[in-house]
Amino acid sequence: MSPLYTAFLLLMAMASATPLWPGFYSETCSDAELIVREVMKKAMIREPRSVASVMRFQFHDCFVNGCDASLLLDDTPTMLGEKLALSNINSLRSFDVVDEVKEELEKVCPGTVSCADIIIMAARDAVALSGGPDWEVKLGRKDSLTASQEDSDNIMPSPRANASLLIDLFASFDLSIKDLVALSGSHSIGQGRCFSIMFRLYNQSGTGKPDPTIESSFREKLDNLCPVGGNENVTGDLDSTPIVFDNIYFKDLVAGRGFLNSDQTLYTFPETRDYVELFSKDQQAFFDAFVEGMIKMGDLQSGRPGEIRTNCRVVNTHHRPVDVLLET
Ligand code: HEM
Repeated sequence: MSPLYTAFLLLMAMASATPLWPGFYSETCSDAELIVREVMKKAMIREPRSVASVMRFQFHDCFVNGCDASLLLDDTPTMLGEKLALSNINSLRSFDVVDEVKEELEKVCPGTVSCADIIIMAARDAVALSGGPDWEVKLGRKDSLTASQEDSDNIMPSPRANASLLIDLFASFDLSIKDLVALSGSHSIGQGRCFSIMFRLYNQSGTGKPDPTIESSFREKLDNLCPVGGNENVTGDLDSTPIVFDNIYFKDLVAGRGFLNSDQTLYTFPETRDYVELFSKDQQAFFDAFVEGMIKMGDLQSGRPGEIRTNCRVVNTHHRPVDVLLET
């Protein structure tokens, strides 16, 4: 691609990006943020893990064609959405919490608050409600008119990923090594499936042996949780305090007690190791870097046209190809 064309594409993307700002709904839906937080609180009481599951949506939405709630669209006969993509199938959960937020918002200010903004507010609330930092989010995003399973498959990293692959992936979104390490700290809350770690327990990189960086008593614990031939949908905690957002995740990595390969690799690789060490010793440094990373990730936009969906799972009726067909 010629540099001129690249510059043109960049200009186009910048020209069509929607401006985002903190007070976006102050006139049109002044209670929007309160409503989101209340629903998240209730969800947390019902099931503590659900807020972690909702927080994960921000990553899986924003990396695939920007933060546009494409992730939330159900498949249709003409569109394979992202819910069944490799990293999401049998894994993403708690979509019902977003549905509940949307229903509450539609009662008070119909057709006003985008599902893309709900994801951003809810992710922030998940962290704050779990004892992590609280911050101001920029709002004003539009919801996509489509979703792409293929794009998600091509972009989202596998739990087998190593730090060098992750550094490159994050760099392609203008996210630094510091952002990568801090954002991985989101694994301070939530759980993962045995499915995501079987290879590292029994056949790391095709060696027929476990990942040598796993501390031995922790490996025994994981072997018991995830035996060969066992149910791979069984889940384990991503760190030793899975409902508290804190820097214990990083202390665990230093001790060789990371759950995912993509977590432990951040300590193994020299490029990322210093940040793991810093965050393991200084929780405030982790919180500050995490907030900065979440805001940067929340700024990702595709520049494509959008709408305010009334139901986060489906595109508004007047855009659906089947209706266009029926009308003609
Ligand atoms: C750096 C690359 C990352 C990789 C490779 C990765 C991979 C994974 C995997 C494999 C799981 C467990 C899924 C399962 O076994 O079903 C998981 C869970 C989770 N991820 Fe990540 N992740 C990454 C970054 C992030 C980021 C940036 C965030 C949010 C800012 C995030 C938030 C979460 C949360 C909260 C969970 C737990 C969800 C739950 O309990 O339902 N992850 N991640």
